[in-house]
Amino acid sequence: MKKSRLIIGNWKSYLGLADGIALAKALVDHHVPQANQIVVICPQFPLLGAISQVLPFHQQTSNGILLGSQDISAWDAGAHTGDVSHSLLSDLCCHYSIIGHSERRQGNQETDAMLKEKLVMAINNGITPIFCVGEPLNVYQSKQTLAFIEAQLTAVFSDFPAIPDQLIIAYEPIWAIGSNIIPSLSEIETVHQHINKALQQLFPVTPSESIRVIYGGSVNADNCKSMIQQPSVDGFLVGRASISELDFLSIIVNSNKEFTS
Ligand code: PGA
Repeated sequence: MKKSRLIIGNWKSYLGLADGIALAKALVDHHVPQANQIVVICPQFPLLGAISQVLPFHQQTSNGILLGSQDISAWDAGAHTGDVSHSLLSDLCCHYSIIGHSERRQGNQETDAMLKEKLVMAINNGITPIFCVGEPLNVYQSKQTLAFIEAQLTAVFSDFPAIPDQLIIAYEPIWAIGSNIIPSLSEIETVHQHINKALQQLFPVTPSESIRVIYGGSVNADNCKSMIQQPSVDGFLVGRASISELDFLSIIVNSNKEFTS
């Protein structure tokens, strides 16, 4: 079975209300759906309501532009000040959620235990997690990347109390984020294969088509062309380049390789 590829825009906190709505409208107007490809945009929380109104038609089709959040509450709706619950995300047709981005692990002290709860909450409520893993520069330089990534996966997924229908892992080396430097193609392929192998052991009953491993960190309209040719690269998590209409649409088109696996 063919795995559809994913192109996910992580808008971080770059865009305000007017710019965010304008970009979403421009993407809806100019996006040409590609075969076997799903496009998701992840705006800041306060933009989700307005942008879900821009995307209603596209929410109906898997080839359209879908909505994701940059985080999810570990708890059901209730007395959790500052959190955004899965039920509100579902109301807004927000079917994906980035969990464990390195900027939240570092800037918001998100722990493995907390991330596990968020993953369970998303999976049990029909929201597909985009779980981020990735090593810091010193780990990369000391060639400990594979062990580091495996430890990040087992820290949350061993004894996991839910079975994911769909799971997206974003491999994002921390040193590649926002730096215009990316690992070599063979390094990316090796890490993605390792992630797939680890997940097959952690989730033996989940079909391999339901697990996708995407790459993130300085993806642009040019470097995506060779990265998408790697057999284990199922798409991209795009930061800075996703807030430019031209760059993001070019990444979408340039990531449409003839599907081979
Ligand atoms: P970048 O960010 O594309 O700006 O490097 C990627 C990410 O942090 O998800």
